[in-house]
Amino acid sequence: MCGIIGYIGDKNPKGILLDGLKRLEYRGYDSAGIAVLHDKQVEVFRCQGRIEALEKRLSNADFKGSLGIGHTRWATHGAPTERNAHPHQVGAITLVHNGIIENYLEHRERLQAMGRKILSETDSEIVAHLFDLEVSQGKTLLQAIAAVLPRLKGSYAFVVLSKNEEDTIIGVRNGAPLLVGLGDKENFVASDVQAILHRTKQIIYLKDHQIAVCHRGNVEIKDLYGKDTPFEVKTINWSADQMEKAGYRHFMLKEIHEQPQALAQTIETNIDHQSGLVSIPELSSLRSWLKDLDQIQIVACGTARHAGLVGRYYLERFARISVKVDFASEFRYRDPLLSTKSLVVLISQSGETADTLAALREAKTKGAKTLAICNVRESTLARDADLVLYTNAGPEIGVASTKAFTTQLAMLYMLAVEAGQANGNIDETYAKELTADLLKLPFLAERTLLLEKQIEKMAGDHLDCSFFFYMGRDVQYPIALEGALKLKEISYAHAEGYAAGELKHGPIALIDRTAAVLIIAPKDTEPTSAPEGMAEHSKTLFEKTMSNLQEVKSRGGKILAFGSENDPSLAQHADCLIQLPAASWALNPVLMAIPLQLMAYYTALFRGTDVDKPRNLAKSVTVE
Ligand code: G6P
Repeated sequence: MCGIIGYIGDKNPKGILLDGLKRLEYRGYDSAGIAVLHDKQVEVFRCQGRIEALEKRLSNADFKGSLGIGHTRWATHGAPTERNAHPHQVGAITLVHNGIIENYLEHRERLQAMGRKILSETDSEIVAHLFDLEVSQGKTLLQAIAAVLPRLKGSYAFVVLSKNEEDTIIGVRNGAPLLVGLGDKENFVASDVQAILHRTKQIIYLKDHQIAVCHRGNVEIKDLYGKDTPFEVKTINWSADQMEKAGYRHFMLKEIHEQPQALAQTIETNIDHQSGLVSIPELSSLRSWLKDLDQIQIVACGTARHAGLVGRYYLERFARISVKVDFASEFRYRDPLLSTKSLVVLISQSGETADTLAALREAKTKGAKTLAICNVRESTLARDADLVLYTNAGPEIGVASTKAFTTQLAMLYMLAVEAGQANGNIDETYAKELTADLLKLPFLAERTLLLEKQIEKMAGDHLDCSFFFYMGRDVQYPIALEGALKLKEISYAHAEGYAAGELKHGPIALIDRTAAVLIIAPKDTEPTSAPEGMAEHSKTLFEKTMSNLQEVKSRGGKILAFGSENDPSLAQHADCLIQLPAASWALNPVLMAIPLQLMAYYTALFRGTDVDKPRNLAKSVTVE
């Protein structure tokens, strides 16, 4: 949450800061501001609302100087007003902050007792006072920061400047992401690589408690005692073009359309074409350990947790290992039962979600092995987990996750097939068939996207529905959850996802003529070497879901069905039917996610909401 950028160089910072903030806006968009230092004077401009509002206000402002900082806010402490917007300026200090200082009230009281005037309700302003107190006693900015940090509890990334030091910007992190971009006679600090990737690809990812002291000509990385500390410069391979909308109206739509390619990129690196088998290179050291594994615990938040719920079905079917799935925010506080034979799989697009990182620490403390499924290289999760499997989805900028989700499913599929082979639950023939199936997935996703026009119409025809109820069984149940989440996130329509078998245990009371019921009922195909009973299992699921469909129909609900093109039966009952390419039990969840993403997208578009920046949400939740 909250986007941060800092610039020091030989150019005017206004455009660089505003442009960086626009690229970070998906992190928060309640208020924004920038500050520029020139000739021992700091000019601060802040305003409530989006970056466009700030840009408008600054249209005639002519800044001098060549260093500055900027911030786009997702409010935690204090309402999203101009007074609470960043940067905060106190005496010599101006700073921007992402995170939460948990003990700010005790500092606030002490500062007030000293006669300091606090102007905002934020925890961030308190820290600006603390830095300023130290500077006013003669410390340099670096010394002031080093003196204050041990007294702060909580998570933070700060970028700070002092009126007295015109060739310095300092960035420091603890629990919230921050990186430094190295340029030619200019340097950048940012919460995310997206903000600066079009300016430099040379990046230093800060670790917790590292301090980056950035000057125009060089950058020093220090520890909390102000001593030089080793660091690595990484070259980023994401291209700046990937951060653009490329002609699409929204990032979300672009990312939905990128799924065939994202899936292909994710799958490709984990296939051994010679043997025709899934072979995840990162798992090679784990193979013998996987054999003796006694449980897998999947932990994640939001859409990533829905991927984990699908993963449970994959792992339990292909590897016959007991799997639990939990919200990271619950897992971290419930003293989970783990041992050295447990594998904790943490799924996160960003790799920076605060609760998921806390869950990782909890799992490590308890001696479990940790494996991250993550999209962002060098993120905290990717760095701190024992093993990391990357989804190669490319940058995901739309707040509603799409291609990250489907690539997470592909990665979980491959993990399950590998684990199943390792523990002997699936034989080579079956594993080969599952691999061959998976290789068709990008093509099937491409064909599914051809249904876009039909889904657009479906969305347009059901805008007046009072309630959207998504239901699916078995491996499609998490897809119902995900479909409902997508719709509520971006269109603000009331939506619920349910396991179809639960219909009669409550939600049926809500079904009337005004309700739309989205039924996910594919006809699964099965590999010929699948164990006996699998095809029968799919058939039973389908029949049960059809009974639920009848129950809805007899109560007047509108039925929007998502089935397979090899199945004529749904057509007789559905008010509206979308037929996807036929696929297996394990691939159908990936395909079914796509029309539900489009349904959410077009509903939001027709309702006129801000698709890429839905109200109150942020792409990456880096505070608890
Ligand atoms: C936020 C986003 C969701 C995302 C969740 C987890 O709530 O709005 O789209 O699924 O965080 O994010 P992660 O980066 O950990 O996958």
